[in-house]
Amino acid sequence: MSRTITLLPGDGIGPEVTAATVRVLEAVGTDFEWESHIVGAEAVQQGEAPLPTAVTDSIRRNKICLKGPVTTPVGKGFRSINVQLRQALELYANLRPTKSIPGLDARFKGVDLVVVRENTEGLYSGIEHQVVPGVVESLKIITEKASTRVAEFAFEYARANGRKRITAVHKANIMKLSDGLFLDCFRRVAERYSDIEADDRIIDAMCMNLVIRPEAYDMLLLENLYGDIVSDLCSGLVGGLGVSPGANIGEREAVFEAVHGSAPDIAGLGVANPMALMRSAVLMLHHLGLSDEGERLSTALKQVVVIDKVRTRDLGGTVGTHEFTEAVVRAIDTP
Ligand code: NAI
Repeated sequence: MSRTITLLPGDGIGPEVTAATVRVLEAVGTDFEWESHIVGAEAVQQGEAPLPTAVTDSIRRNKICLKGPVTTPVGKGFRSINVQLRQALELYANLRPTKSIPGLDARFKGVDLVVVRENTEGLYSGIEHQVVPGVVESLKIITEKASTRVAEFAFEYARANGRKRITAVHKANIMKLSDGLFLDCFRRVAERYSDIEADDRIIDAMCMNLVIRPEAYDMLLLENLYGDIVSDLCSGLVGGLGVSPGANIGEREAVFEAVHGSAPDIAGLGVANPMALMRSAVLMLHHLGLSDEGERLSTALKQVVVIDKVRTRDLGGTVGTHEFTEAVVRAIDTP
C-alpha cells in the first residue's frame, strides 16, 4: 500500500543526500509518495516564512518526514528550522544510535551507544535578550514534564531494544536547579524500570570517558545542548558525521534526519556521503513496521561499505555520492 511521506530536501548537501536516499528506498521496494517542501533560506527567497505553515501541516497529516540538513544563519537571521520544527511538533526525543561498523577504520571498535537527547527545551528554547548593551541573557528552560517524558522514552526504548543500562549526563553539581530537575526526573522514572540499570555522570567527565572507553556505555540520556554536542562526539568515535543516523520522535509525528549539517564546504561537489541519511531511512522503515525493507537496506549498506569497500571520501574512499548510491542499489538487487 502506498504511503505519503513529507520530504524536506534542505540545502547544502541536503538535496544530494535526500535524492540518493529516495533512490535506494525505491530500490528496496517501498511505494512511498513524496510531498516535497522547501524550508530555510530558499523559502525566504521565495517570500515565504523560513518554516512555512504548509510544512508543519504536511508533517502533521503524513505523520512521517524524511529531512535533509538546513543551514542556520550564525549570529543573526531566522531561528534554526530544526529547533523550530522540533518545538512546533513536540518531537521531544532525539534518537541517535552510534554503532561501530565492522571493518571500517574508525577511532574505536565495538562502540554500540544510543544517545537520547531532550529535543524541545534547555538552552535551545531560544529565549535570549539584551539586558543592557554588552550584556545578554539566554534562558535555560528545564521542565518536569519534558524531562520526565524523555526519560520515559529512553527507558521504553531500552526495554524494546534489549538495552541494559542508561546513563544520564548532566552538570547538576553547578546548575543545581535546572540540571538537578532533569536528573531528579530521570531517577524517579528509573524507579519504575527495575530491569534497566540507571546511573549518571557529570558532562565534562563523561566527555573524557567517551574518548577513552566508549564501549563502557550503553545508552546516554542528555538535555538538549549536551545531547547536541555529545552526539557529534559519538559520531567521531565510529567514523564521522557521514555515517550517523538520527530520528526526532514525538507522540504523533516523527522526522528522520542525519546527525550532520548542510556541509557548505562540499555542497554541490557530488562527494557527500549519503549513508547517514540512508541509515536514518532504515530507522524510518523500522518505525513504519517495514522491517524487511529496513533490513535489506541495512544489509546492502554493509555489503557496499564493509565487504566491497566502496566508500566516499570522508571514509577514505574515492567514490562520489552517485557512484556510492548506485553501488547500494546493485547490492539491493543482487543480495
Ligand atoms: P556539518 O555537519 O555540516 O559539517 C561538518 C564537517 O563534516 C564538514 O567538514 C563537512 O564537509 C563534513 N560532513 C558533514 N556531513 C557530511 C557527509 N554526509 N559526507 C561527507 N562529509 C560530511 O556541520 P557545520 O559545518 O557545523 O554546519 C553547517 C550548517 O549545517 C550550519 O548552518 C548548521 O547550523 C547546519 N546544521 C544543520 C543540521 C540539521 O539540519 N539537522 C544539523 C547540524 C548543523
